[in-house]
Amino acid sequence: MKGILLGLICLGVAGPVLAEPSSKVAWTLETLNFVKKGNAEKGKELMGTCAGCHNDTNANPQLEGQLPNYLYKQLVDYKNGNRKDPTTAMNGLAASLSEQDMADVAAWYGKQAAKLGKGGASDPTGIVSKGDGKRMEPSCSSCHGGSGQGEIVDTPALAGQKADYLEKTLLAYKDGSRANDIYRRMRLIASKLSDQEIKQLAEYYSKLD
Ligand code: HEC
Ligand code: HEC
Repeated sequence: MKGILLGLICLGVAGPVLAEPSSKVAWTLETLNFVKKGNAEKGKELMGTCAGCHNDTNANPQLEGQLPNYLYKQLVDYKNGNRKDPTTAMNGLAASLSEQDMADVAAWYGKQAAKLGKGGASDPTGIVSKGDGKRMEPSCSSCHGGSGQGEIVDTPALAGQKADYLEKTLLAYKDGSRANDIYRRMRLIASKLSDQEIKQLAEYYSKLD
């Protein structure tokens, strides 16, 4: 009896039933409207806490011009531990923010102009515009937009983002240490890219204007 019970408990723990979802954000109409109504003026007051780390002197991601839905989702994911910042700074910080704060600060950053690359770049691997049928790799632009401007619901803008950050986060999707993408979409896509291609794609998007 004990053995059977133990077996059942072990099955339960290892089984997919208890697997953590990649994100607790569900894009219901209510959530979309909540983020849309974020108060940029209130967000501006919070942003003082962010600018010490999110600025031009380091490789931390640029937040200016990013889509509010995406920013909000990342903050909720950090708070819930679905996305783990290797430095843990974002997990600690997000834990101190309310969902209203997150919508407000997302609204403020979304309204700022992104610092874009200068001169643009041409698709280094063909994957951005065409994907790769042999690997069943979709084109990046089908989701992130023809000029990396971000699209539909929570697909982030990539244009002008820092190359070091883009490379780091694509490698994190590839090795599974970043696992907050709904339906594993980015993990699957990144797992089929070589490290060299990741570097080229990161350079490409950072130069887009
Ligand atoms: C102590 C430094 C620090 C502070 C303060 C900080 N951040 Fe961050 N932030 C980081 C680091 C480092 C990362 C990258 C972590 C990773 O790779 O997951 C990051 C990532 C993010 C991301 C994910 C960006 C993306 O493109 O996916 C968002 C959103 C974010 N921060 C928002 C904020 C906001 C809003 C504030 C202020 C309320 C803030 N951060 C304050 C260090 C900081
Ligand atoms: C099926 C749609 C889809 C395709 C195709 C796609 N992406 Fe994404 N991408 C997403 C979504 C959605 C997210 C946000 C996931 C999350 O919440 O973590 C994302 C996130 C990212 C991020 C993280 C951005 C940040 O600020 O942290 C990078 C980098 C990225 N994608 C690069 C690419 C590249 C390069 C390609 C092509 C090889 C690509 N994506 C193809 C949907 C897609």
